[in-house]
Amino acid sequence: MSSVVPLRRAAQPQARTARLALLGTGTVGSAFVARYGTLAAQGIALPGVSWICNSRTQLAGGDDLDAVLRQARAAAARRSGFPPWAEGESPRPGDIVVDATASETVADWHPEWLARGIHVVTANKLGTGGDLGRAQAIGDAGEAGGRYGDSATVGAGLPLLRSLRALVDGGDRIHSIEGVLSGSLAWLFAGYDGSRPFSACVREAQAAGYTEPDPRVDLSGEDVRRKLLILARTAGFALSTHEVEVESLVDAALAQAAPDAVDGLLDTLDAPLEARRAAAAVTGRRLCFVGRFDAQSGASVGLQALPPAHPLCAGGGTDNRVAIHSDRYRERPLVIQGPGAGADITAAALLDDVLRIARG
Ligand SMILES: NC(=O)c1ccc[n+]([C@@H]2O[C@H](COP(=O)([O-])OP(=O)(O)OC[C@H]3O[C@@H](n4cnc5c(N)ncnc54)[C@H](OP(=O)(O)O)[C@@H]3O)[C@@H](O)[C@H]2O)c1
Repeated sequence: MSSVVPLRRAAQPQARTARLALLGTGTVGSAFVARYGTLAAQGIALPGVSWICNSRTQLAGGDDLDAVLRQARAAAARRSGFPPWAEGESPRPGDIVVDATASETVADWHPEWLARGIHVVTANKLGTGGDLGRAQAIGDAGEAGGRYGDSATVGAGLPLLRSLRALVDGGDRIHSIEGVLSGSLAWLFAGYDGSRPFSACVREAQAAGYTEPDPRVDLSGEDVRRKLLILARTAGFALSTHEVEVESLVDAALAQAAPDAVDGLLDTLDAPLEARRAAAAVTGRRLCFVGRFDAQSGASVGLQALPPAHPLCAGGGTDNRVAIHSDRYRERPLVIQGPGAGADITAAALLDDVLRIARG
């Protein structure tokens, strides 16, 4: 059978005038550079990468971004207290800063950049999923000209935030949002059947790159709290961090451990989680780590035992599942599901936002 001829598409507006600064050369930053190269090789016009930065160095972009990335990743530790990008040449209005860090310092700059007319595209959830004041400042500053690309912050680019915005813009009132919002926890609980310790599953998820750099960010529910805050705020609610009740899977000793002691303490997860799994299995239920926001009753994050037919039990792997109830979806929710973890799809979501902004 001959292959189907692609439909001719209208020419895309050029996206070359803005300059791009990449902050973060870790897992996501590296995947961003790889995806950038793939799109460029497909002939897609992209803004030029003018800078690649991490906490140690700021380097000029160029034709060979892979080499610049390697050089940045190999840079020596820095003595001065200021991040290198705050001391070098600054982006100007119309440029795009891509935040592929998990840094509070960088998140603090989001409103500042937006207010100067610089666009921000982010995988860093701390901007709109952390302090409420900063999230509101980002919303207010965005009105000054800079645009904010946040598709990568929840669901790694799944059409969650844009669907919520479309509902709200259409006059729909959101009643509740509940979901399996962590790809790593979805993967962990989908595969955890008691045949091996939970800590072994965590180590496998770490090795596969599904967890945050520090797995306690996932296991403590903190990552889900941030995503739930972003969803609730996008739906129009001024929810504060402390208003989300969080059930952490991490005990006090693991929570307080130094980063290099975490692996040795992961076994403390095993007995309590096996007890929860076995109790759920007696009634044919499965464990799911769920974030729930209800406009009437508040917000919570924690482990739930759900019947297999429940919408939040669907899917597999690192799938995120989110159910939205609104005026329009009163009886049965709008359910959005799909892979929601991993550096490659996160990088793709960042570049979707870059292209959308650069094409105006
Ligand atoms: N990994 C995933 O699959 C995934 C998926 C979705 C979202 N995310 C989010 O994406 C972000 C990055 O995750 P990651 O896994 O790539 O983390 P990572 O591998 O730890 O990389 C973080 C990068 O941020 C840089 N950085 C830290 N503070 C900085 C500062 N003040 N200025 C400039 N750069 C700074 C680090 O620089 P140094 O190398 O100099 O320390 C490092 O290059 C996080 O917010 C994470 O939540 C990750």
